[in-house]
Amino acid sequence: MQDFYQIDLPRLPYSLASELKDLAKSITVSNEKREWLQNFHNCSETIAYQEYGTDITQISLEVQNSLKNILCKYFPNEKIHYTLGKIEAVANTISITPPHCDRGRFLACNFILQTGGDDVKTVFYNYERNEDNLQTAINLKENDLEPRSSAVFEPNCWYVFNAQQAHGVKNITGSRYLLSILFESNIKYKEFVTKYKHLLRGCG
Ligand SMILES: [Fe+2]
Repeated sequence: MQDFYQIDLPRLPYSLASELKDLAKSITVSNEKREWLQNFHNCSETIAYQEYGTDITQISLEVQNSLKNILCKYFPNEKIHYTLGKIEAVANTISITPPHCDRGRFLACNFILQTGGDDVKTVFYNYERNEDNLQTAINLKENDLEPRSSAVFEPNCWYVFNAQQAHGVKNITGSRYLLSILFESNIKYKEFVTKYKHLLRGCG
């Protein structure tokens, strides 16, 4: 099983993607949070600003319904919700999101609204959280890990990956915006890739 797959969900219409991008752009990022992470990692690389799935991002009911109309038929037995993410380079730097396992979700199912640079790599490392309590994120130091796979996720495409496999993002030079599908069942990655094998590019 791969750490990630591109999935064959429809590309969002331009106007909808553009509306979501504007909404993601409007999310306020916190330098305090960024500095906490910078100090935690105590590394020479610059940590990007990031906000993910917070209450600041209210997706209007109209937009949620447009998404639902496009997506819910692919996941007939799932209740799905949506959230936005914003990752932003510190001005005039090449920034990173350091290795971590996500809080609250076993998998990430993302549509890349804007990449945040020409060669932004998502890197997966050789650590996986194997427990069901996901109340907090796990922050990990790159020096303690080995990379095991990586990919440049393309804009306007859908990807699914194991959010409990340590992962980070490199080469961020601008603003990266993502839409995530959140599954109310909090389905696990291994189960998703079995159940929705027909959606995985190259596996159908
Ligand atoms: Fe993550």
